[in-house]
Amino acid sequence: MKLSDAPFPHLHYTEIDSTSAELKRLLAAQPLAPWTTLTADYQTQGRGQQGNSWEAEDGANLLFSWVCYPQFLPIKEQFLLSEAIALGLLEGLTPYTDGLSIKWPNDLYWQHRKLAGILIEHEWGSGHLARTLVGIGLNVNQTRFVSNAPNPVSLAQISGATYSREEVLTSVMTAIQRRIGQLEAGDWASITQAYRATLYRAEGYHLYQDKEGCFSARFIDVEPTGTLWLEDESGRRRAYLFKEISYVLS
Ligand code: BTN
Repeated sequence: MKLSDAPFPHLHYTEIDSTSAELKRLLAAQPLAPWTTLTADYQTQGRGQQGNSWEAEDGANLLFSWVCYPQFLPIKEQFLLSEAIALGLLEGLTPYTDGLSIKWPNDLYWQHRKLAGILIEHEWGSGHLARTLVGIGLNVNQTRFVSNAPNPVSLAQISGATYSREEVLTSVMTAIQRRIGQLEAGDWASITQAYRATLYRAEGYHLYQDKEGCFSARFIDVEPTGTLWLEDESGRRRAYLFKEISYVLS
């Protein structure tokens, strides 16, 4: 299958600066149906979290952005959408591998390595979300990574096989749509429960780094706002927002 037969509105580019940037340009010019998805073989300016770039070999991986309109979700509950997306991504990949977990807030890990990253950009209405743009970089068939990303891994590296990007995309988008449907139906408890059950480092003490230095701590909880709670070995509980803490990887 070519990257053009997916069961959702789909535009494919052989080369683009960034599918996220292109999605914004398209939305500025015209309304787009929910789930409209842009994919690219290659991005010249792929963006990652925290201003990083996103490395992907030409034609090897899934680089995609899509739009949804989660107007049912109060702003103060917006982290639920992030949970639903990360969970759907994980569940869409379970036919391909086990050993998956979600590294708070929404990186997808295989064992101790990063298989996919998610960029989420919300636009707000009065009290509710209005529009959300999601960009996902998923390492599928790339077998050599050359950037300074600390711990990338691809499906091909995990299994030695080569995958149809179209099939993986359909599996992932179907699972994400299912989880967001569950959110829309108001079943928030199932999502928060499943998210916490799949978290990377949910058990035991591990090393983290914050502005005070390196410390060993165990996971306590993620608040509905997305705040991460850890407890260090002295019993002190510490709360973190995204970017306030990094995981020290061995
Ligand atoms: C991360 O740093 O973990 C998030 C990476 C998100 C990368 C994807 S690739 C498709 C979309 N277009 C971009 O420029 N970035 C996102």
